[in-house]
Amino acid sequence: MSVYPPLEPAALVPRRSRQFPFGSDGLTLTHLGRGAVWLALKALGLGAGSRLAMPAYHCGSEVEAARLAGVEVLFYRVLPTLRVDEDDLQRVAKETDATYLISYYGFPMPPLPPGTRVIEDAAHALFSYDGGGAIGSRGDAAIFCPRKSLGVPDGGAVLVRNGRIEAAGRPPWKRMARSVASQGMGWAAQSRAGVLRAPATKVFSKVSKAEQAVEKGTLTETVIGEWNLEVADLEIAASKCSRVTEWAVHGADGEKIREHRRRNYQVLLDALPEVCLDRFRSLPDGVAPLYFPVRVPERDRTIAELQKRGVRSIEIWPVPHPMLDRTRFAELDPLRHQMLALPVHQGLTPWHMEQVAHAAREAITAAHR
Ligand SMILES: Cc1ncc(COP(=O)(O)O)c(C=O)c1O
Repeated sequence: MSVYPPLEPAALVPRRSRQFPFGSDGLTLTHLGRGAVWLALKALGLGAGSRLAMPAYHCGSEVEAARLAGVEVLFYRVLPTLRVDEDDLQRVAKETDATYLISYYGFPMPPLPPGTRVIEDAAHALFSYDGGGAIGSRGDAAIFCPRKSLGVPDGGAVLVRNGRIEAAGRPPWKRMARSVASQGMGWAAQSRAGVLRAPATKVFSKVSKAEQAVEKGTLTETVIGEWNLEVADLEIAASKCSRVTEWAVHGADGEKIREHRRRNYQVLLDALPEVCLDRFRSLPDGVAPLYFPVRVPERDRTIAELQKRGVRSIEIWPVPHPMLDRTRFAELDPLRHQMLALPVHQGLTPWHMEQVAHAAREAITAAHR
């Protein structure tokens, strides 16, 4: 069981649901989320000579897109509670041409700072709502990442308010073939039918670099490599998404996905409240969580213990972009060594969630022994 959902055959049945953001004027699908960031910066005219406020807690690939666009990045403070320091945000927003906000795990962002252009990064927040509407519906531009939430083989998306920006070209087919094969394998590995699950799980552990790295204790070095990219990489990331993705995103039932993710999140919240950061310990109405964030001192050992029990968790953002002054934002360092994500995606049933909860309890105990 993985944090990101596998491609469900049912997603390929056309439903033509038009749930936000799909079907919105101004939405462009891209190969990757970072390509969507690249296009959003272009659409807002942000490049050399522009300044952008970005949060000190980030994935890194969004910051890399800004770096390659030639934008000067000024970071604003995020507290160890994973709440944005709103005073610092206002201060930095005043010194910049635009502000970049990120929804962490699908939870609400801070209020949009007044008097500045805003890019909403809703890469974690597809089909997620806060008190004021859909996350990603208020900024001058918004980023989405359907591949994280829908099990499609690739896919970012950029929504430009009052405009549109086109993606050009398609990603290399070899890359897509690999991705479709791995998504299909993921689906089989999660099946309740042992005849599918056992061989798929075996193949997965043979070919998955991440699984091997967990065993060797080198996960961070293996999965982190989102910087030192070149403009050409961003241009591929900003090409059109594959046709499979183009087709499948419109089949997604946003309401059902949100409902199932919330149900699954609640199972883990009930089972493991003590390892969940305070701000994620309740699930506000409308939120569609991307995953269940856990903070444990022995993160790497916990991930390895989870893997032994059939649950593939991921580190959340262990290394900031090198442009961040880590001494100035040192308060986030402990978090970077302690946060992991557990799966709650819509492909998991209550049967799966019982196993995830059980495995997590055991893994946390085993890792602390
Ligand atoms: C907040 C955020 N924005 C943007 C991206 C970029 O998405 P992608 O990896 O599809 O390029 C990520 C990737 O993990 C992310 O977490």
